[in-house]
Amino acid sequence: MSFDDATSPAIGRISNIARDGDLAELVGLRHKHFIITLKAGTKFETHRGVIQHDDLIGKAWGTQVFSHLGAPFFLLQPSLADLLTDLPRSTQILYPKDIGFILVTMGIGPGKKVIEAGTGSGSMTIAMAYAIGAEGRVISYEIRPDMQNLAKKNLERVGLASRVDLKLRDIQSGFDETDGDAFFLDLPNPYDYIPQVRAALKPGGFLCSLLPTVNQVEQLLVALRREHFAFIEVCEILVRYYKAEPNRLRPTDRMVAHTGFLIFARKIEPGEDERGKELEKEIDSADVFGH
Ligand SMILES: C[S@@+](CC[C@H](N)C(=O)[O-])C[C@H]1O[C@@H](n2cnc3c(N)ncnc32)[C@H](O)[C@@H]1O
Repeated sequence: MSFDDATSPAIGRISNIARDGDLAELVGLRHKHFIITLKAGTKFETHRGVIQHDDLIGKAWGTQVFSHLGAPFFLLQPSLADLLTDLPRSTQILYPKDIGFILVTMGIGPGKKVIEAGTGSGSMTIAMAYAIGAEGRVISYEIRPDMQNLAKKNLERVGLASRVDLKLRDIQSGFDETDGDAFFLDLPNPYDYIPQVRAALKPGGFLCSLLPTVNQVEQLLVALRREHFAFIEVCEILVRYYKAEPNRLRPTDRMVAHTGFLIFARKIEPGEDERGKELEKEIDSADVFGH
């Protein structure tokens, strides 16, 4: 399935004012927030009253607006993190803390070709489509039609569907691509598909996988070494928020303690020359498990 709509992303349009077609966030009392797509002539209804979209279109971002009952809201342009947190989902989605680190570590930027499996609800697909710009391409594989449809809807809502090819397939049978700059592999048994992933990446290409348990990470490490991936790193990202009170600055009571381990690696070509063996050991590519 691919898309040829030429819509510019509804997310993050460069403008100081809210315009027809923009994604907008309304933040009311007690942090109640809503993300809507502005459409002239329509209205937004909550239990706090009604707001006409025409009263929002043309307003400067960051200003206050009121419902017909007088309930106050701030009108904001949602960030990528706001949108991803708000995404309709039926799988575990990624947290902004992990997404940001994955994008910069794999160098996912304008013009890159990125492959993904599985698509899930499409949260990482959206983040990658945003990062690669109009010249890049995301190709995302998913086995379940219902998940693919949800991801398609989510991509269309943010206006990024035209940058993505959604493919319905069990990745056991491999990928159509052979020149990916980066691969994001997010399913429970990534270690079963490393030869296929290797074939889809160009030499030097990046791989990242996200796994909730150390047992899965161990299995993945064995598979990566067997398939000549190198520069292997395992990490997890912990973020601690603080109560932003100048006189009582202290951590908030709760934090997200664990989302998943991130495993990064790069596809390298093993050398024949004995002089390169020490370097190969240093970059983790040596098959220490003797497979
Ligand atoms: C953890 S979810 C991915 C979540 C996604 N990263 C997101 O942000 O929404 C894993 C997805 O992989 C899909 N999947 C599992 N095994 C697969 C396979 N062999 N081939 C293709 N997709 C698969 C599942 O159907 C599921 O939607």
